[in-house]
Amino acid sequence: MIKIENLDCMYKTSNNQMVQALKGINLTINPGEFVAIIGANGSGKSTLAKHMNGIMLPKEGDVFVFGKNTKEEQNNLFIKKSVGMVFQNPDNQFVTSVVEEDIAFALENLEIPFDEMHERVRMALECVGMYEYKDASIESLSGGQKQKIAIAGAIVMQPKFLVFDEPTSMLDPQSREEICSLLKRLNETMNIGIIFITQFMEEVALAKRVIVMNDGKIVKDISPGCLFEDIDFLESMKLKAPQITYFCLELNKLGENINPGILDLKECADELAAALKGNKL
Ligand SMILES: Nc1ncnc2c1ncn2[C@@H]1O[C@H](COP(=O)(O)OP(=O)(O)OP(=O)(O)O)[C@@H](O)[C@H]1O
Ligand SMILES: [Mg+2]
Repeated sequence: MIKIENLDCMYKTSNNQMVQALKGINLTINPGEFVAIIGANGSGKSTLAKHMNGIMLPKEGDVFVFGKNTKEEQNNLFIKKSVGMVFQNPDNQFVTSVVEEDIAFALENLEIPFDEMHERVRMALECVGMYEYKDASIESLSGGQKQKIAIAGAIVMQPKFLVFDEPTSMLDPQSREEICSLLKRLNETMNIGIIFITQFMEEVALAKRVIVMNDGKIVKDISPGCLFEDIDFLESMKLKAPQITYFCLELNKLGENINPGILDLKECADELAAALKGNKL
């Protein structure tokens, strides 16, 4: 598990001001969980994410990955192997220019025999549906394809957790959907714990648990359905519920009784159809 205890984080800005980005964070994420993290710009999401795999080390507080403190240098490799990270901009995540080489690069420090390395790269590429692009130049790929390669580069390490920091924010709607179903599959079929930072409320519905951050603190730890019902809270956090929630609430204003915690279109259509039938009878 990932266990965060009393984590604070201060940054020094270019004009020597101190900004407290994290304030007393306590959080435990268990293996196999799918957790979304949301919050307004500057609420501390990325800073928190970077503490989960040792990209940033706590000055105050501790982060443990399966009991190992990220601050201790001898735990470095274990932590990098256990918790992978995928960022918003796929272009910033590559070290070589050819797909297969880039994914193999991640394994280079692990002293894995050549055949096994080859096999792991193949599996990672197949998992994201990009094996046929193994010899392609990364530059020639679309944004969505690049993001899949970045994900393959993370799963080749066989991590227990993957942290995604707004992985879909630069993608077109179709690529966004593909990345979201990939995350769901990684979680459901490979049991990889997913920590998913997103600005898209529709995507939050993928998670079983959602953490809301505000001004460096965790202000809610709840299920997406319960969160979306509380529109006033969301709006006070400068967030919004998914369109579907507003749609259900508008219908309720017209006298229907539809559950505003509905998360997907099909469920909403079913409730609406039932309500319409009821009205006709
Ligand atoms: N390198 C840095 N130097 C100084 N201040 C920083 C630095 N990185 C982040 N901050 C500040 O720390 C706070 C939290 O930033 P962080 O990037 O973690 O927020 P976020 O929730 O990820 O925001 P966004 O939604 O914009 O990605 C903000 O006030 C931000 O300005
Ligand atoms: Mg961020």
